[in-house]
Amino acid sequence: MTYVCHSDFHDHAALPFVLRDETRADVSARERLLDAAFGPERFAKTCERLREGRAPASGLALVACVGDECVGTIRFWHVQAGERAALLLGPLAVDARHRALGLGRKLIVEGLFRAMQRGHKAVLLVGDAPYYNRFGFERALTRGLVLPGPVDDERFLGLELDPGALVGARGLVRPSGARAASRRPSCMADAALSRAA
Ligand SMILES: CC(C)(COP(=O)(O)OP(=O)(O)OC[C@H]1O[C@@H](n2cnc3c(N)ncnc32)[C@H](O)[C@@H]1OP(=O)(O)O)[C@@H](O)C(=O)NCCC(=O)NCCS
Repeated sequence: MTYVCHSDFHDHAALPFVLRDETRADVSARERLLDAAFGPERFAKTCERLREGRAPASGLALVACVGDECVGTIRFWHVQAGERAALLLGPLAVDARHRALGLGRKLIVEGLFRAMQRGHKAVLLVGDAPYYNRFGFERALTRGLVLPGPVDDERFLGLELDPGALVGARGLVRPSGARAASRRPSCMADAALSRAA
């Protein structure tokens, strides 16, 4: 599914862009975007323990493109949140030259819309609450859940796509997505993991 949008946030900088499913051809551009946004430390994050070796949820790896250039990325992953099935959102990144034009918002809204269409009931993430609160993500929904590593608790947020889906959710959050085809970790990943060890 693809759609073309014109950013309505800044008339002086109307930005025609396309949101579409990520393809194999987007992988290098996506990794460059993530390296620029988060640096090599991204591989040492606790959320990476829920993503590594797994494929993203079906239909929930999206890119935003301006012309031929991939300028935004979002992916969602299957996790088991205690006894509840959920998605993990992230990473989300927009190229620094194209920020504050609504691309991040469009990627999130489209991702959540697709997640609902596919019957997913809840979404978790670790991120900046002042940004994600506007989409309905709340700390209160994750208080009974534990991530498989250190994290700033106030950044651990949840959203119910189906009301009540996270009520009473307790326990460890574990990866539950399909195994990805194996590939050699990048040099950046090696370096970050050895620093984190
Ligand atoms: C966060 C990010 C994806 C937002 O993308 P974007 O396309 O600029 O976002 P939007 O245009 O939809 O929204 C911009 C608004 O979000 C706010 N915002 C952006 N990042 C924010 C943050 N970390 N915390 C709080 N507000 C934030 C902007 O100030 C702006 O506010 P306004 O609408 O009141 O002017 C982008 O800044 C980015 O890639 N950052 C680096 C990676 C990152 O931090 N990813 C998210 C992990 S928390």
